[in-house]
This record gives sequence, structure tokens and C-alpha cells, in this order.
Amino acid sequence: MHDFYSDTKTKPTLAMRQTVLDAEVGDEQKAEDPTTTKLCKRVAELLGKEAAVFLPSGTMCNEIAIKVHTHPGDEVICERTCHIVHFEGGGPAAISGAMIHALDGTNGFLDPEQIRSAIRPASRYAPRSRLLCVEQTANLAGGRVWPLDQLKAVSNVAKEAGMATHMDGARLMNAVVQSGISAAEWAESYDSCWIDFSKGLGAPVGSVLAGSQDFIEHAWIVKQQLGGAMRQSGILAAMCLYALDHHVDRLADDHALANSIAERIGKLRSVEKLLPVDTNIVIFDLMPDAPTATELAHLCESDGVIIGDFGERRIRIVTHLDVDQKSGDALCAAMANHLG
Ligand SMILES: Cc1ncc(COP(=O)(O)O)c(C=O)c1O
Repeated sequence: MHDFYSDTKTKPTLAMRQTVLDAEVGDEQKAEDPTTTKLCKRVAELLGKEAAVFLPSGTMCNEIAIKVHTHPGDEVICERTCHIVHFEGGGPAAISGAMIHALDGTNGFLDPEQIRSAIRPASRYAPRSRLLCVEQTANLAGGRVWPLDQLKAVSNVAKEAGMATHMDGARLMNAVVQSGISAAEWAESYDSCWIDFSKGLGAPVGSVLAGSQDFIEHAWIVKQQLGGAMRQSGILAAMCLYALDHHVDRLADDHALANSIAERIGKLRSVEKLLPVDTNIVIFDLMPDAPTATELAHLCESDGVIIGDFGERRIRIVTHLDVDQKSGDALCAAMANHLG
């Protein structure tokens, strides 16, 4: 099967698996796992932060950050399509007692004036606007890369109002490769930021959340509360280190493949509203007379191709380490067959 459902579908390569054999390990909870410590140090440096903590998932990075930055009743401002709103099981409410103030963005981006007018003046009636969360790249907008100036400007507005800022960097390294701008520069105006190893970077498990020393100490308490502290996590961290060394530059191949798929699919009769492709995600809508998204996903599956149906007419295709030019050709042939 050619699986374009998500870049989470990557399986660790043989070389990645082999790094595990020599990994030095210990008790992570007691800071005795040298490989995990090395990974955290490396990601903290990469993101220009003082410290970092290894976590099992990106969702846990977001939820711990929200818990650390807010108090129950506080409000989190974010863009309406973001992962925190749609795919974290209501975690901000369940774990932090936080309210979400979701704003309609453009391409998954917010603008400074929107933030300014969304921030509530201090009042004994209103929730406290406490945290701004952004997603780089913006997944459901089609993997769009925020313009750097805009990303900094929205953070500045939030900070002027005394708010904290957090970046969901699930695909930050895709933005780094697409833009040539370093991860540290992207993350500079954000108090906390994380990257995910289990997406385009191809590791099986693991995310690293970074911030100030104080933020990470507090994050560790929440990690412990949630049962996220690990033991010999160097087994996983070794594969994440391998990904940093070997799987970052190749993200450019994923972007090129996504672009070539979009170019071919965009010409099909039943495709409308193909979103611009910045990185490794292709999103488009189907014309009303075409099969529905679910029907198309089933048809493609019988042709050996897996795609994502996101709503009645919306399709998402994600390129990654485990699909290549041949997979792209199979995908485009299936699409032409059913949508041409
Ligand atoms: C933008 C974004 N944030 C967060 C996550 C959550 O990451 P994880 O699957 O590691 O929990 C995802 C996963 O797809 C994502 O796309």
C-alpha cells in the first residue's frame, strides 16, 4: 500500500533501528538516561531555549505547555483549525481547566490586529487572556509556513498584554527546510516550543518540548503527574538523534513530491479549491458531482493507495519518508481514474 494518510505512518528504517543497539540507557525519571539527556540538550540548542524535556507525544507537549502557562479559567487564544482544538480530546478543558478562544485565521495564520482585539481587558467578569498558541506549519491549512514577521508580530502583541506564547512545532523542521530559517529563529519569540520526531522525521515515538529552565522544571512536574516519566527512554531517544542527523534535509524531497502531486491533481476535473502547497501536505475539495471524500478514500484503497478524508468533500494527502516518486505516480493514477 502507498500510504499518504499522514507523515505519522513512517516506520523506522533499519539504520535507525540499529542505533538502538549501542544506545546508553538509564532511568530517565532520575535524569540517568544519557541518550535522552543528549537529545534534550540538542533540541534545546536547536530551538534556542535553556532546557528541554522528552515526551511520548506532541499532544502531551501541547497539553503540558498549556497546563504550565495557564490557571483554571484562563483563556487560550489559537487559530480555529489547530490540533489543540480538534484532536486533543478537549485536553485544555480536561487537564488545565482552560477555555479556548478560537479565531478564524487565513492559511492557519492569525494577524496581530486579530490578537489585539481578542485579548480581553482585565475584568472580574471575563476570563483572563493568558496564552497564545500557534502551529508551525499549519496542518489543516495545508502545511502552510507562517511568515516570520507575522509569527513574531502576533507573539509581540500577546506579550505586550502579559500573555505567554507557545508554538506547536509538530512540523517546524519542515518549515526550517522550506524557508532556510533556523528553528531557533522561528521559535525565538515563543516561550515554549516543541518538535515531533514521529512525523516526517521518521522516528517511531517521541517529541521534545523546550523553554526556560523554570518552564521545564514545571513541565517535569506535570509530566510526572500524567505518568509521562520514563525509564530507559534512550532506546527511543537514540532513534530521534538519528533522525536529527539523517532525516532533516531529506524533508525537501517530501516537499518536492507534494508539489508534483498537487500539480498533477490540480488538473483533474473533479478537484476544486486545491490549497497552495508549502511543505508536505496537499489539501483539496471535491466537486459536488464527484464521489464524496469517504467514497474516494475507499476507491483509492482498492487501488493500493491510502489518503485522508477530512470532512464530506475534503481530502488530505501527506508525503513522508515511506512514500516516493513511484507512490506519487500510483496516487495520481488512482486520482485520475476516479476524478479525471
Ligand atoms: C499540528 C499537530 N500538532 C500536534 C500533533 C500531535 O502530535 P502526536 O501525534 O505526536 O501527539 C499533531 C499530530 O498529527 C499535529 O499535526
